[in-house]
Amino acid sequence: MDHRLIFKGEAMSYQTILFDQEAAVATITFNRPDKLNALNQEMLAEFRDALDRVSRDPEVRVLLLTGAGRAFIAGADIQVFLDFDPLAARAFARSAHETGFKLEALEIPVIACVNGFALGGGLEMAMACDFIYAADTARLGQPEINLGFIPGFGGTQRLSRLVGKGAAKEMILTGRMLDAGEAKTLGLVAQVFPTDTFREECRKVARALAAKGRVSLRAAKQAIDRGFDQDLRNACLLEVDAFALCFASPDAHEGARAFLEKRQPKFL
Ligand code: COA
Repeated sequence: MDHRLIFKGEAMSYQTILFDQEAAVATITFNRPDKLNALNQEMLAEFRDALDRVSRDPEVRVLLLTGAGRAFIAGADIQVFLDFDPLAARAFARSAHETGFKLEALEIPVIACVNGFALGGGLEMAMACDFIYAADTARLGQPEINLGFIPGFGGTQRLSRLVGKGAAKEMILTGRMLDAGEAKTLGLVAQVFPTDTFREECRKVARALAAKGRVSLRAAKQAIDRGFDQDLRNACLLEVDAFALCFASPDAHEGARAFLEKRQPKFL
């Protein structure tokens, strides 16, 4: 399948993903539905290219990731593992890690909209987003152990940071799949929506985020991300600077004034 799109005057031709933009909300859809959107090198490269384009476009204020058909991503494409030696495995994992870091480095909010299976590399990509929404029929897990190896796209690290060491070990060592409700109880998923209205619920949140102040959204995201691995005192100092930075934008005064004048704020 060939999806030709014009994006900011540049022709994009992707085989494995779809890109669309509705006002300030961009959506990247993983699109190999007959293979449950299994990730291969081509999809990783196209995904990185789309992320670069999003990062260069000041009009995009929120990014959604989702999958076509029954899956978000059902893992790395198992076909590719047949020919792997350690060097090829390392190169594949390194390129997936670079993709995860690129995703995490975006300054705008990124929501993983997990519409179906998010397994292996799929869950690992979702965990590199700011938060995860799941349809009530979604299934999430790190089943690599059942194939004789381990998560290699960041799962051993991001999952333990998100749900704690014990719960991460239980998931990774057993390889079992969680339903959306259990994933929410663990704190892996932020919210669960009914499958029928899932895409619209995600877009509704995305539109609400797009109407908030850019500077405050960025400051909040960076304060949490940069402070996460620091001791509390240094992390709080980072927060102080991020808080102060918000007042360099007219948004902070506009937000306070709008509240006092009992009207909706108009942010930049
Ligand atoms: N890599 C390659 N192909 C995959 C895939 C993957 N990770 N996940 C699914 N597919 C393919 C299947 O081989 C099948 O292809 P085919 O129709 O050409 O035979 C197609 O996608 C549909 O999958 P199928 O297994 O028939 O669907 P299902 O509803 O019976 O089961 C899953 C769904 C997700 C439980 C099952 O596909 C599965 O376990 N996938 C692998 C998950 C995994 O181990 N991921 C980590 C990889 S590192």
